Amino acid sequence: MVMKFALIGPGAQPPSYTTQRLLEEARKKFKKTEHIPLIDIKLKINNKEIDALYGKKSLKEFDYILPRIDSKRAVVGYPVIRFLDDMNVKKPYVAETVLIAHNKFITLQELAKAGVKVPETYLTGSKQSAEEILKKQKLPVILKILSSFGGKGVLIMETKESAMSAIEALQTLKQEILIEEYLPNPGEDIRGIIAGDEIIASYKRIAGPGEKKANIHAGGRGVAYKLTSEMEEVVFRSAEAVKSSLLAVDMIETKDGPRVIEVNINPGIQGMEKATNINVAQRIIEFVESEMKR
Ligand SMILES: Nc1ncnc2c1ncn2[C@@H]1O[C@H](COP(=O)(O)OP(=O)(O)O)[C@@H](O)[C@H]1O
Ligand SMILES: [Mg+2]
Repeated sequence: MVMKFALIGPGAQPPSYTTQRLLEEARKKFKKTEHIPLIDIKLKINNKEIDALYGKKSLKEFDYILPRIDSKRAVVGYPVIRFLDDMNVKKPYVAETVLIAHNKFITLQELAKAGVKVPETYLTGSKQSAEEILKKQKLPVILKILSSFGGKGVLIMETKESAMSAIEALQTLKQEILIEEYLPNPGEDIRGIIAGDEIIASYKRIAGPGEKKANIHAGGRGVAYKLTSEMEEVVFRSAEAVKSSLLAVDMIETKDGPRVIEVNINPGIQGMEKATNINVAQRIIEFVESEMKR
């Protein structure tokens, strides 16, 4: 049987490192590998059927579809995944996962419900409520934009005055205000990637000098790191909580054990491949292959 695989990508030209690597590994394994730009998909509804088309092809024809939907495209991506849910196409997660994973607060809600430890976090829309929350917080305190990435929407505030002025700025941008407990740590965050029932790679990001955020974009560097069994358990539970079989889980190790700060359904793999020397793209595609055969 000819296995048909498609990757739904953001349509960026040239494609990102991760997209290229996944396609390269997929082409080695599958007779048919298609790269479909998200915006070119046509969703069709009438009273007989629903369908998702690319050119003349129905996405039903594929044995597995790997979506790479970043947070900027979640609004366009959600209906596509929802169609694939209804069309019974195999893929790593359900439509609901897009909504959970691209909202840092809802992510923490689902994780906490599943018994995964998270930092104490609040969400509110008004300055006054934010002020009431802030009064009770220890310093530093973290403010986050709900759908940010690369460390760009994360503010670590050392004083309540600076936190309040940042909140005012967020308000003028009509942004909701996420206020999060700062977890004391040496400027490190730990990422594990799970595919099915296997953790395929893990590493640690260490913040650059004078920086508290460990993102590579913020000057951090990645080093290979083996998860403790407690962390592995956290990764498994998190994937279950957000209903994704393929997921990156970011943790901070505290004196009370690991806490999850965010998950990523669309992880870039360049930093991880470099730090670990693991062919992460190949492992993801091997997982896809095993899913196709199920
Ligand atoms: N609750 C927290 N306590 C301590 N440091 C944090 C916390 N949340 C985030 N950070 C630091 O800020 C970085 C970026 O935060 P994160 O929530 O991962 O946002 P992004 O999606 O932009 O990566 C993390 O890698 C970590 O180093
Ligand atoms: Mg992060």
